Amino acid sequence: MIRFRGFVEYILSKKPPEKFVNRLESLIKDLNADVLTRGAKTPEEAARITEFALENQKMILKIESGRRVRLHQAALRVKNALAPVLGRDYKIGIREVLLKQAVIELDGEYKVTTKLPFVVRVEVTNGKTLIYLNDMDESSLKRPIIDRLIQLIEYKELKSKFGGKAEHWQLIKKSREKKPMFTGDPNEILEKVGWIKRYSVGQWFYTPPLTYMIRKFQELFLETVVKPLGFQEAIYPKIIPVEMGLKTGHIKGTVNQMIFACQPKSYNIEDFSEFLDLVMVLDEVPRDVLRDHLRDPSHWLCFAQCEPFYWFFGSEIIDPKVLPVKWYDMSGPSFRWEAGGIKGLERLVEFHRIEVTWLGEPEQVIDIRNKLLDRYEHFMDKVLDLEWRWAWVTPFFLVHAGEIEEETEINLDQPGTIDFEAWIPYRGERQNPNNWLEIGNISIHGTKYSKPFKIKHKLQDKEIWTGCSGFGVQRWLIAFLAQKGFDPDNWPKPVREKIGKLPESIQLVTYPNKEGKKLLEEIYNKFQ
Ligand code: SER
Ligand code: ZN
Repeated sequence: MIRFRGFVEYILSKKPPEKFVNRLESLIKDLNADVLTRGAKTPEEAARITEFALENQKMILKIESGRRVRLHQAALRVKNALAPVLGRDYKIGIREVLLKQAVIELDGEYKVTTKLPFVVRVEVTNGKTLIYLNDMDESSLKRPIIDRLIQLIEYKELKSKFGGKAEHWQLIKKSREKKPMFTGDPNEILEKVGWIKRYSVGQWFYTPPLTYMIRKFQELFLETVVKPLGFQEAIYPKIIPVEMGLKTGHIKGTVNQMIFACQPKSYNIEDFSEFLDLVMVLDEVPRDVLRDHLRDPSHWLCFAQCEPFYWFFGSEIIDPKVLPVKWYDMSGPSFRWEAGGIKGLERLVEFHRIEVTWLGEPEQVIDIRNKLLDRYEHFMDKVLDLEWRWAWVTPFFLVHAGEIEEETEINLDQPGTIDFEAWIPYRGERQNPNNWLEIGNISIHGTKYSKPFKIKHKLQDKEIWTGCSGFGVQRWLIAFLAQKGFDPDNWPKPVREKIGKLPESIQLVTYPNKEGKKLLEEIYNKFQ
């Protein structure tokens, strides 16, 4: 049960005449009987004016309400009903509507709600929660802040209930066990031989031999999985306006993992003179002074990579003739501060991904996902010859939006995410879940994105669904090297043939070190 009460002040353009004062009681009776009960099945669900007063230019009403005609709605309904009467009969306008001393009373003890926006204080007593609100003006009542506040409280409560539980994970398919050809840590070897150099946290410089391997892996993936299904390449923007996060959900769910971008306040270099002088004198970058020259963060750096795909179709009407749409993007890196530690090429801040995206009628979206799964299976099992498994997991698009889902039965034809995982032998035995690495995922989102972006089918009764799949190339490559090592004789034929000879590796007096140079020689000897 939810109840509201509060005082609503209507600021009038002038003091009303005595005639209106005498009429007010009957007007309020009518409002209570009609306007304030519309849409409510019982009196408890409706709103009711329980007290009223006139003070000069102010009309003050005490309103109590239930869940159907909420206090803020009631306040606005009263304005709409009285404005024509005041205007026509007394030439008086309503200038402003203010809500004061409002309280929301919820059944149940909501313990997570001590500090909230627009809230003065929260009291939890005897199975009830009382939320005392800040005063609100008419625009806040219209937005409607109160409804969203209640949603927020319920969301927090739900989250605290589910928060402790691990995200769900159910095995759906796995390869046969495959004998590992290698048990070392490929991350260490790549660094030792100088194919990658640590640039910053989770960021690496990839030298030509490893860049070459990355490109070859991408080619294999495109040739085996993406192109046979008719996907076409497009270039998606790589910085996303923060407001788009209201539609994708990222601004609510992953704000703690994103990297944001700011524009300068001025495009005139003279305006930076104080900052430049300091740089000269200090010979360092005074970040705090720099910050003063920047605007507020306006974009996040590519995170999910598919965000712009939904934007492109946003507010458009799609003729079924063009459906399904199958595009992919590999035009730039993604950025993520991943929880749980950064490790070699396994957990990165900057990574490279081929993002496969599609859109169509629900059956088409499911069919494409199924066809992609077939190709993926061939790719991981036959082309790369990995030991792999697939799991039905908490959908990435809910995790990204900070939403909660109760665990459901596996139903592959419903929106959801399948994770692809590979065993990483150097970590330890395959029985331990920690020794597996998520290398990719594939999802059907249902209308999770088409709804907020208002992507419409030409036929009104048909929905547009979307799907996406991320091929994060560093992780696939690491999984492959972890299982197969650096000797091409141990590699499956398609990979061996695709890679052929490696480009030359850079060797400086100081780089890589002696041990690295020796290792490098051993590797190159195998590629002869
Ligand atoms: N966009 C999806 C994700 O971020 C697939 O890459 O997980
Ligand atoms: Zn995606």
